[in-house]
Amino acid sequence: MRMYDIIMKKRNGGELSREEIDFFIEGYTKGEIPDYQVSALMMAIYFRKMTENETLALTMAMAGSGDMLDLSSIGGIKVDKHSTGGVGDKTSLALTPMAAACGIPVAKMSGRGLGHTGGTIDKLESFSGFTTALTTERFIENVNRIGIAIMGQTADLAPADKKLYALRDVTATVDNMSLIASSIMSKKLAAGADAIVLDVKTGSGAFMKEEKDAKALAEEMVKLGKNAGRKTIAVLSDMDQPLGYAVGNALEVKEAIETLKGHGPKDFTELCMTLGSQMLIAGGKASDTDEALEKLQRVIEDGSALRKLADFVEAQGGNPEAVYHTELLPKASLIHEVKSPAEGYIGHIACDEVGVCSLILGGGRETKESEIDLSVGIVLQKKVGDAVKEGDTLAVIHANSSEKLAEAEKRYLAACTFISTEPAKTPFIKEIIV
Ligand code: URA
Repeated sequence: MRMYDIIMKKRNGGELSREEIDFFIEGYTKGEIPDYQVSALMMAIYFRKMTENETLALTMAMAGSGDMLDLSSIGGIKVDKHSTGGVGDKTSLALTPMAAACGIPVAKMSGRGLGHTGGTIDKLESFSGFTTALTTERFIENVNRIGIAIMGQTADLAPADKKLYALRDVTATVDNMSLIASSIMSKKLAAGADAIVLDVKTGSGAFMKEEKDAKALAEEMVKLGKNAGRKTIAVLSDMDQPLGYAVGNALEVKEAIETLKGHGPKDFTELCMTLGSQMLIAGGKASDTDEALEKLQRVIEDGSALRKLADFVEAQGGNPEAVYHTELLPKASLIHEVKSPAEGYIGHIACDEVGVCSLILGGGRETKESEIDLSVGIVLQKKVGDAVKEGDTLAVIHANSSEKLAEAEKRYLAACTFISTEPAKTPFIKEIIV
């Protein structure tokens, strides 16, 4: 078999066989097939798409490209969650300690920033010393001891996805349904949890811009999970503007901490409560949504979810003091208010462009090797539907370079649309797919 023929077949719209998919995943994982050939194949898949059979074969090949974790030494129903990616998406930072404080063993594998979206691992590294490079033994021990552990993809777990994820990030081949579904589900299957709750986004900041495409992605992933014998649920939510107010690694950590103290933004809190309820029900800790919501509310009010975050940060080498003293998190040197040029209402915020503003400031990677600046980003002051007067502050930019700040400001203003009448409200949670 030759990689050249596989690329050519997909380029011409053919359906790849299981053997061909296994061949390229195995060869790429071992370093025998170079990045440039796989980039070409990813672009061919992007344009030609994959059939359901190809997506299933790709998922299983990537899940089996390394070890499959055995979590049987952790008691209870292990629940994992994963987002399809968005802007200001700090959900895992607040949700996983909330679920763990309710008694759910959270054994989660997370990723880094992808395209215009941020990644949980980058955000968590805002706690100095924090590491997600855990051995399997330590991962399991931490879940047993404190109820929560988050690891990055190691060379042992779904290594094919680790390589492909980094490659897609810099070759404009992220937003393809089959590539997203197989990337997420291969990691989730390899990480060994019994139940999987998927946070699927739709709108201008999501990889699936149209709700029907996001729904199809959710259904595809639920099917892949169920075929592999895992209880799988997807929550479809709005990503047509940033989630919460903060966009940027340390800024998002701060907002997640505020949420764990009960002072979170309305949309973000609603998302955590909805996903959390699904996690509690799937994990057998609540029999219905009302009971789950009550338990989640309690762990916020009694401070146990916040303490769980501090325990988790400490267990993975980070400084837990920063949970209680957020001034210890990385801080940018330049703080600048973006003023409204118009009067009226915010009609739309091009959400992916806000993600790009954060990338421009240094919050994301330009190449696979780029170092990111954890301190930079944007904190929105006005969101869609808010009334504004000329000169009101729309957002606050945190930067370490005046050139980058000026570019981000220009781009942020271009991302905002002003209208004269209040826009109609649309539901934030769109659907739950089981
Ligand atoms: N999250 C992933 O893990 N993979 C994708 O392709 C997109 C979001």
